[in-house]
Amino acid sequence: MEIDQLTQRLLNDIEATTSLQDVEELRVAAFGKKGVLTELLKTLGSKTPEERKTLGAALNVAKEILKEALDARKVHFEDLQINQRLANETIDISLPPRPELQGKIHPLSKVMDEAMDILGKMGFSLSEGPDIEDDFHNFTALNIPPQHPARQEQDTFYLKAGDGKTPHVLRTHTSPVQIRTMIKEKPPLRIISLGRTYRSDHDATHTPMFHQIEGLVVDKHTHMGHLKGCLEEFFRFFFEDPDLKLRFRPGYFPFTEPSAEVDIWWKNSRWLEVLGCGMVHPNVLRNCNIDPEIYQGFAFGMGIERIAMLKYGIEDLRLFFDSDLRWLNHYGFDPETRE
Ligand code: PHE
Repeated sequence: MEIDQLTQRLLNDIEATTSLQDVEELRVAAFGKKGVLTELLKTLGSKTPEERKTLGAALNVAKEILKEALDARKVHFEDLQINQRLANETIDISLPPRPELQGKIHPLSKVMDEAMDILGKMGFSLSEGPDIEDDFHNFTALNIPPQHPARQEQDTFYLKAGDGKTPHVLRTHTSPVQIRTMIKEKPPLRIISLGRTYRSDHDATHTPMFHQIEGLVVDKHTHMGHLKGCLEEFFRFFFEDPDLKLRFRPGYFPFTEPSAEVDIWWKNSRWLEVLGCGMVHPNVLRNCNIDPEIYQGFAFGMGIERIAMLKYGIEDLRLFFDSDLRWLNHYGFDPETRE
């Protein structure tokens, strides 16, 4: 019978499909608007009631069989697709994990944090200034006269200046931040400044770029005893030694009077110079419109590399700036320990 043959042919075709798309194409070929079975169903109307009955029944059976075959074939291909995805997307748990590289805190950052932490608890707040300074803030306002050796070419990095203009400099110390703060803010003042400083110097104990931390207190009745007490407190906390001995030697800075160099008694064996300080020179206060008859101040400044080398036993200054990862891994600090 014609319908049986047609059904068998379509079943063979379904069996021969190789993709979901093939299956869909066959479904359209059979049951689509112009599909073979659809066309046959359309002929029913022109048949006698007898013929319609047998042909109709046969067509219904064929329809059922073919739909079932098409659905089964579709499910077969869908399963295949899912299994393929599952196979492709499995995680190979035998792979070793990628190592997570963790950075270290540079010893200089660590020491700056520690110093800021101690001075912050003592009531100091942070003040900032630019690395490129003008002559006024770096020298003149700090009572450094034009002929002072600190201004000479071999010490200071001068920037190119326009005709007749005074050249800017890379700040040679953090002291210009004192001036910026005193001009901007009214006493009482209790500030620290820290950051990069520059001098044209390069040997085993000097690098052209280095770091300083500086403190300034201006108030009524401020005196040398406050300066000594403040520095003693600071160094005892910083070096974690409540009995650390300090020695104040007379010194000279144009911007402080009197001035002193401070040594610490290191490991029960020798005095080591760590800092310069003094009472703010009346000229400096005047340059910032502060009346020295009413206000006095003290200031101190030190090299951060120096105290970092002492505290953490770092031998060579130049290695601080080599960016050698082996050095950093050895001397650096885990981020967790950063407070
Ligand atoms: N600015 C000085 C230096 O660079 C240090 C200093 C700061 C001295 C403040 C006295 C007061 O050596």
